[in-house]
Amino acid sequence: MYKVSIIGAGNVGASAAADLAVSQLANVVLIDINGGVAKGKALDIVQTGPILGHGALITGSVDYSATANSDVIVITAGIARKKDMSRDDLLKINAGIVSAAALEAVKYSPNAIFIVVTNPLDVMTSLVQQVTGLPSTRVIGMAGVLDSARLESFIAEYLQVSPLDVRAMVLGGHGDLMVPLPRHASVKGVPVCDLVPAEILDAMLKRTVHGGAEIVGHLVTGSAYYAPGASVAVMVKSILLDERRLLPCSVMPHGEYGLTDVYVGLPCIIGRNGLEKIVPITLTEEEQAALVISANSIKASIALTDSLLHPVEITETEAEEKAAEAEEDTTTAKPPAPTSANTGDAK
Ligand code: LAC
Repeated sequence: MYKVSIIGAGNVGASAAADLAVSQLANVVLIDINGGVAKGKALDIVQTGPILGHGALITGSVDYSATANSDVIVITAGIARKKDMSRDDLLKINAGIVSAAALEAVKYSPNAIFIVVTNPLDVMTSLVQQVTGLPSTRVIGMAGVLDSARLESFIAEYLQVSPLDVRAMVLGGHGDLMVPLPRHASVKGVPVCDLVPAEILDAMLKRTVHGGAEIVGHLVTGSAYYAPGASVAVMVKSILLDERRLLPCSVMPHGEYGLTDVYVGLPCIIGRNGLEKIVPITLTEEEQAALVISANSIKASIALTDSLLHPVEITETEAEEKAAEAEEDTTTAKPPAPTSANTGDAK
């Protein structure tokens, strides 16, 4: 039986654990600084076994030694932004939590593939790769699967077809500047652009970009977790069973799409080695420009995180200069296509 450890037994971590239990793919260890929460949720999931028909071993602990020799480590630890907290505060707090978690986890599972879920997603994924020193093919961020599923569900609802037959892809960062690709969306191969009127499709794209915020708006005190948890489970399955699914994930390109040195959502083949391949698909000029803008804004956040974590090594002025440089790239690049332009927060 494979072993998957999930660091952070909050709603997303527990939801992913429950999905993995049902699939009977792996034994799951839930780790949380609140050991009681990890143990309690693990026990609760185990007790769904007789009802849902699985016998997976799910355990909870505060101790990372319980994660030893995991095949996959999922990092969901971190906090959500609270009232009176700036983005920089959130970035700094989660950067500290995520780096510490990744360092502990890699100590016990040096051969694992890491999936990062904590927000800001692309920045935290980059951080995990940096602190663990793992090859970038073994550190992957979850977001594109979730953002794509949101778009797919809106299309399915509008057309009154099974969501299983709808396929769509969202690239770019998991934030305001994500890049939905309506040209590549289909219902069992039939282009969605032929089935859905342009203005309705455009509204769906905007709703996708704000999909996380829409749910926060309803929940008020929390953010989405069922679909994020299920997205993690799909990625874990593709890795463990070497399914080689084509999934949009946050990965590090080495020249693909003209990008380097940044984690950003791209179409990937995900298999037993983690990122098997970044798949080149033809983008229009507008789509490519939107992707570059999104990547540059992630680069600016990575530079800011560096400066927050290493205030002595990089002076504030240097960090500001670095961020301004990346920002300049963002603003001088061609603006995104109107169909994917957006403002506001993706949670
Ligand atoms: C969302 C969070 C989980 O998009 O990133 O709902």
